[in-house]
Amino acid sequence: MRKIGFLGCGKIGQALYHHIKEKGYADVVFIEDLKAEIPGETVVTKPDPKLYEQADLILECATASVLKEHLEQILSQADLLMFSVTAFSDPEFEQEAERLCEKYGRHIYLPHGAILGLDGIFDGRFVWKKVTIVTTKSPKSLGRTDEERTVVYDGPTRGACKAYPRNVNVHASIALAGIGFDQTCSKIISDPAVSTNAHEIHLEGDGMDIRMNIESFAAGAVTGVYTPHSACGSLDRICEEGSGRVFV
Ligand SMILES: NC(=O)c1ccc[n+]([C@@H]2O[C@H](COP(=O)([O-])OP(=O)(O)OC[C@H]3O[C@@H](n4cnc5c(N)ncnc54)[C@H](O)[C@@H]3O)[C@@H](O)[C@H]2O)c1
Repeated sequence: MRKIGFLGCGKIGQALYHHIKEKGYADVVFIEDLKAEIPGETVVTKPDPKLYEQADLILECATASVLKEHLEQILSQADLLMFSVTAFSDPEFEQEAERLCEKYGRHIYLPHGAILGLDGIFDGRFVWKKVTIVTTKSPKSLGRTDEERTVVYDGPTRGACKAYPRNVNVHASIALAGIGFDQTCSKIISDPAVSTNAHEIHLEGDGMDIRMNIESFAAGAVTGVYTPHSACGSLDRICEEGSGRVFV
């Protein structure tokens, strides 16, 4: 049985928490969150080294900045499944994550989250010539007040992550799996007419032209309805042992 700790337990975290309880394949050893209330659980608001020691897998579902602050505390004790992938757009974080994984012999699991096919993008990382992502969200979701459709960012993915760290985890995941934060092109559109999070992804290489259009109703402040389901599937693939069909 894996021993799981939560860093952040909002929309995605609570979906994972209930999924673990239903499946029974892991023990929840701590929940750290600033404000979450989970019946029957003690929720701590600050990192507690004694609790971290009890975990062998920590699920980060908080923010990129929290992840940066906690990185060594996490990786010195446990593997990490992280949802705030924009943290990787900071070169210091990327280097530190690599150093700590090597030092402590840990894995960082990167979920496909709001999109599909991150494994396939990674498999083609040496052959993509151009990767572009266009995301359209409501102004509210982006923390803005636009009254008409507005392009709020158009440039390399690294800058998009800096400007909208809570909204472009899809861009960060694709950049990380594919051709990097400086080569991947991001466009973010704020549109008061939409109630979905929409991502148009276009990958081009010699003899290859792949497009994905993904639209998910905006269920939380930053998260669409699909992501909690995908998060649970990712956790299953980390935790479940046994026989049967395995998608790879
Ligand atoms: N990878 C993806 O495709 C993808 C998709 C959607 C969301 N996300 C990201 O996943 C993360 C979680 O998303 P969510 O919808 O569950 O967010 P949420 O706002 O519903 O939950 C975040 C939780 O983190 C807690 N938190 C914030 N600061 C904290 C701190 N210092 N210590 C402990 N807890 C803290 C908050 O209290 C909150 O309960 C966000 O960073 C979001 O941008 C990633």
